[in-house]
Amino acid sequence: MTDLARIEFAAYDTDRIKPLAGRVAVFVTPEGKMDRAGKRVNSLTRGSLQRFVDSKAFEKLEEGGAHVFSHPSGMEAEAVVLVKLSRKDKMPAAARKAGAALARLRGTGDLSVLADGWIAAAELAYGLSLRAYEFTDHRSRKDDDPAPDVGTVTFHLADPEAARDAFVQLRAVAEGVFFTRDLVNAPANVLTTTAFADKLAEMTGLGLKVEVLDEAALEKLGMRSLLAVGMGSESPSKVVVMQWQGGGDEKPFALVGKGVVFDAGGISLKPAGGMEDMTMDMGGAGVVSGVMRALALRKARANVVGLVGLVENMPDGRAQRPGDVVKSMKGDTIEVINTDAEGRLVLADVLWYAQERFDPTGVIDLATLTGAIIVGLGNEMSGVFSNDDALCDAFLDAAKEESEGAWRLPLGEAYDKLLKSNIADMKNVGGRAAGSITAAQFLQRFVKKDVPWIHLDIAGTASVKTDTDFAPKGATGWGVRALDRLIRDRYEG
Ligand code: BES
Ligand code: MN
Ligand code: ZN
Repeated sequence: MTDLARIEFAAYDTDRIKPLAGRVAVFVTPEGKMDRAGKRVNSLTRGSLQRFVDSKAFEKLEEGGAHVFSHPSGMEAEAVVLVKLSRKDKMPAAARKAGAALARLRGTGDLSVLADGWIAAAELAYGLSLRAYEFTDHRSRKDDDPAPDVGTVTFHLADPEAARDAFVQLRAVAEGVFFTRDLVNAPANVLTTTAFADKLAEMTGLGLKVEVLDEAALEKLGMRSLLAVGMGSESPSKVVVMQWQGGGDEKPFALVGKGVVFDAGGISLKPAGGMEDMTMDMGGAGVVSGVMRALALRKARANVVGLVGLVENMPDGRAQRPGDVVKSMKGDTIEVINTDAEGRLVLADVLWYAQERFDPTGVIDLATLTGAIIVGLGNEMSGVFSNDDALCDAFLDAAKEESEGAWRLPLGEAYDKLLKSNIADMKNVGGRAAGSITAAQFLQRFVKKDVPWIHLDIAGTASVKTDTDFAPKGATGWGVRALDRLIRDRYEG
């Protein structure tokens, strides 16, 4: 797994600033105020910081942005990084964004962050950790390339103990986010259904109970809808059940993820352009896995079960065809109009199984389900669909707190009608109009009446083509932070 940055917390000591090696970061308010560390660096460098703060360049520097002073005289550091604090962001977002700005300017060696005057240091370290991600699993190094020198980031603080304690929980969530990103970034020839299941099984070492259901077990359970999707693939379909029991004997909350390790479309084959992006079609399963890892690492005081449906959607002589009718575990029959609408076929059975087996207090499913959600919301927000206002509002609050974009869209009977089939209980597509909503309606047919449920369509947010605040381009880990917070605020209180 991709490692987090090495982070340490040390006692601030004015006399130890001058000999610091590597880079040294200080913070200045938008009004130009420095803390004692800033003042010390300013005096060591004979007023360089103050001259910058008084200049037009400081005024022009965006809030949350940073300026680098290379090889400052009067100090042994290779550079001083001045971060202009943000007034527009509230905490903890402001501290996290400042940390992310540092991650971008951190260079490769050591970084000393002199932050005790202004900022919640643990949140700063969290933002830095989240942004300092790089997926290097498949880059080869030439023999004469030196091993990359990833230095230590040390926060110099009046109260390092407090920050160290606060960071323990945040670090666990960051590790969950990294786990998700590694899974989502992995190519499909590497992350097969079996490799994915094996990775999850390894999490038993963290105190999770992990079960892998193979095709024979799924057949026995009657998951014909899920199994139909994987029939064209050489990789066996699997459902993995992860249980975290950190609460009492109360019923668990359930998370369900779409794990299509590659979505070629099946017989309804996708066009070639962009098909390579469909290695991320297991994004929902990736988020569920990352949340379960975070819960285990931080020993959450809640009962949560995570289920993922792992399949590959390929064209083949044995693949399901358009026009086939399959029977779901629930018992309803589905006419498969388009084999590329496969995610809902997978989720139908996993959702049903989750409710039958665990009688959960609520269910959230995550899926890179529709291209239509990208048309509607772009890459900024995930689509949110729910049958329960209280749960939905709690989730939207958590997402907002974590700066993860989320926007609720409607459900309704008129949309559900679009799924009527001439020969079966329903068909798997509802036509071009409201494509994300009809997909959600399809899922809702597999949610029991009184079970609070949210469906998150993360097709636009799971993996993106440009850098974001807290992630470089590629997999974002969207949702891990919001779901972890939801569980913390709602079930651990
Ligand atoms: N995995 C895709 C959705 C997707 C598209 C995810 C782009 C990420 C980026 C899904 O299985 C799919 O193919 N959906 C179809 C549904 C259609 C056939 C009703 C779509 O959106 O075109
Ligand atoms: Mn598809
Ligand atoms: Zn798909």
